[in-house]
Amino acid sequence: MIELARRMSCVQASAIREILKVTERADVLSFAGGLPAPEAFPAGALARAHADVLANDAAAALQYGPTEGFGPLRAWVAERMTGRGLPAAPGQVLITAGSQQGIDLVGKALIDPGDTVVVEAPSYLAALQSFSTYEARFETVETDDDGMSADALERVLLARRVRLIYLVPNFQNPRGTTLSLERRARIARLAAQHGVTVLEDDPYGELRYRGPTLPPVAGLDPDAPVIHLGTFSKTLAPGLRLGYAVADERTIRALTIAKQAADLHTASLTQRAVARMLETFDYDAHLGRLRLLYGERLDAMLSSIERSFPEGTAWTRPEGGLFVWMRLPCGMDAQDLFVDAMRERVAFVPGAPFYPGDPCRETLRLNFSNRPPLAIAEGMARLGACVEGRLREAGPERQVAVAAPSLLTMWARRGVKAP
Ligand SMILES: Cc1ncc(COP(=O)(O)O)c(C=O)c1O
Repeated sequence: MIELARRMSCVQASAIREILKVTERADVLSFAGGLPAPEAFPAGALARAHADVLANDAAAALQYGPTEGFGPLRAWVAERMTGRGLPAAPGQVLITAGSQQGIDLVGKALIDPGDTVVVEAPSYLAALQSFSTYEARFETVETDDDGMSADALERVLLARRVRLIYLVPNFQNPRGTTLSLERRARIARLAAQHGVTVLEDDPYGELRYRGPTLPPVAGLDPDAPVIHLGTFSKTLAPGLRLGYAVADERTIRALTIAKQAADLHTASLTQRAVARMLETFDYDAHLGRLRLLYGERLDAMLSSIERSFPEGTAWTRPEGGLFVWMRLPCGMDAQDLFVDAMRERVAFVPGAPFYPGDPCRETLRLNFSNRPPLAIAEGMARLGACVEGRLREAGPERQVAVAAPSLLTMWARRGVKAP
């Protein structure tokens, strides 16, 4: 038997990726994955850009490249971030294999075993997984519909030494909620005062369908140590595996060294093709189309939930991103509901795995970007009926019986630890 490192015992398989293996079957109406709409991928423009690069630039595009990334792409990101409120030079940009790699490199470069990382509860599961690999301890901070509470964060910072604050400021995964402007400014100030680094993970910032755009936390206080992460996954296509980190040059140097050891550099061909495409492709018009498409799907999901779910169900009303977060009535366990839902061929992700500590089991996450409005209405009708069914089963006093085989038991059988 191959013996694994001790730290692997701190890391759990992603329960969500395990669920996705079941829910992405063709006959299942799935709202589980965080999948963008494939019909919105700019496949033609990407095909032309790849062909152009291979015809005219093959020697460089197929060769090893610098770890920091392809110069023109770094320059494009720096200019774009400057326009979005985070002034940056190309030397402050590292091109990564998706923002997931950015999270992992930050963990590798900043976290020592036993260090405390402050996270929201619930938080993005794959970040928790990555920080666990570096043997982080998690401290959760109260979160409401305006994001992480700055007051609660301040209490934690006064009470203990914190290494990193991890935030998803826009349309958080999984809750869909957004950090208010006032809290952004306060959190940046607190980070500056306490000398604690903020990791601002922002895959959804450009996918806002209503309400005013808010500036990145990284641009709000020149003294705050903030690393900003972005990605082309949700705006172009996740299969490109193209993201970026923006920070001061010293931090970018450290992340670059961490990346050298990880994968030498992000794919040269992909970087050059996307940079070539962005020379002529109207990225803002593309974002405009995406916002229309996803805004319509978000509206469809909110109105079908309103129509289809029984009293006592609560849900977030995001202004962008890909997810709605739901709380089931009467303490109903979302993992048990999942079993009923799969029987009706509709899927979601139960909320428990998103909590680093004590999970709130009556929560679940719904993705709305990957299905057209009619399918969303059908899916929510099926799911709402499952909730109604469980309530009826529970009797007039609406005590929910936990009769169905628990998903936890299924995971345990498959060797996936519950969080
Ligand atoms: C909050 C958050 N961070 C990072 C990622 C990873 O994205 P990427 O495809 O850029 O690695 C995701 C993907 O869903 C996400 O929701």
